[in-house]
Amino acid sequence: MQTGPIGIFDSGYGGLTVMREIVQQLPAYDYIYLGDNARAPYGTRSFETVYRYTLQSVEWFFKQGCPLVILACNTASAKALRNIQQKDLQGLNPTNRILGVIRPTAEVIGSYSNTKNVGILATAGTVQSNSYELEIKKFYPDVKVYQQACPMWVPLIENNEHESKGADYFVQQCVDELLTKSKEVDTVLLGCTHYPLLSKKIADCLPQGVQLISQGKIVAESLEAYLQRHNDLEQRLTKSGNRQFFTTDSAADFNKSARLFYGEEVEARHVELS
Ligand code: DGL
Repeated sequence: MQTGPIGIFDSGYGGLTVMREIVQQLPAYDYIYLGDNARAPYGTRSFETVYRYTLQSVEWFFKQGCPLVILACNTASAKALRNIQQKDLQGLNPTNRILGVIRPTAEVIGSYSNTKNVGILATAGTVQSNSYELEIKKFYPDVKVYQQACPMWVPLIENNEHESKGADYFVQQCVDELLTKSKEVDTVLLGCTHYPLLSKKIADCLPQGVQLISQGKIVAESLEAYLQRHNDLEQRLTKSGNRQFFTTDSAADFNKSARLFYGEEVEARHVELS
C-alpha cells in the first residue's frame, strides 16, 4: 500500500485557492499540487475531454505515490470524478481515494440560506452537468437552486485580466443574469475554484444582504472530518509539511501567477502528462 502526499488537482491555478485553505487547516501533511495549465480552461470542454485529462492527472498523482487525490476543480469533479471512481479506480489502485469539491459544498450550502434560494456561479461545464442541483437536493430537498454559467471568467483570471475594467462588464453581466432567475436568492456560491479572485467585483454587483460563499474553507473542513473517519487512509499520508507544485505549462509563468491564488511564492516544476 502506497504512503505519500495528498494530491491536489485543478485545470490551472484555481485549485490553489482550495489548497491554501486545506494547508492552513491541515498543515502537517505533505502536498503535491498539479495545475494542467497547458490545457486550461476545462469549463468549455466536452465531458469526454475533461474525463480523459483528469484521468491522466489522477494516474500521474498515483505514480507520485499519493494515496489520496482531491479534484480541487468543480468542472473535473462534475464531469470526471464519478466515472474515475466507478470505472478506473479499481484497475489503478483500489485502496487509493479520489475526492471532489462539489459534494462537500452541497452538504453545507443549504444551511447558509434563510430564503432557501441558492445561486451558483460556475463554468459552463459544471452548470450543464447539473451536479450542484442534484447534490444539493440530496441534502436540502426544499432548497431551490439557480445556476449561471460564466464562460469568460476563467480565461480572464488565467490571463491575469481579472482586475481590469474589462472584467467588470463580464462580471456584471453574469451576476445580473443569475439574479433575474430569482429575486429570493440570498446566498451565492462561487462554484469554480478560480472565482475567489473575482470576489470583490462579484460582491459589488450583489444586492445588500446577499452573501457570497467561497468553497475553500468548506472543502478543508470537510477533508479534516473525512480523514478523522478514515483512519486507514489517514495513516498512509506522510506528514513532513512538504509542498510541491507542478504545472503542465511553463513553470516560470506558474510561479509568477500562483501567488495571487495561493497567497505566497511557490516554485513549480514542469511536467508532461501525455
Ligand atoms: N477551477 C475550475 C473549476 O473549479 C476551473 C475550470 C476551468 O478550467 O474552466 O471549475
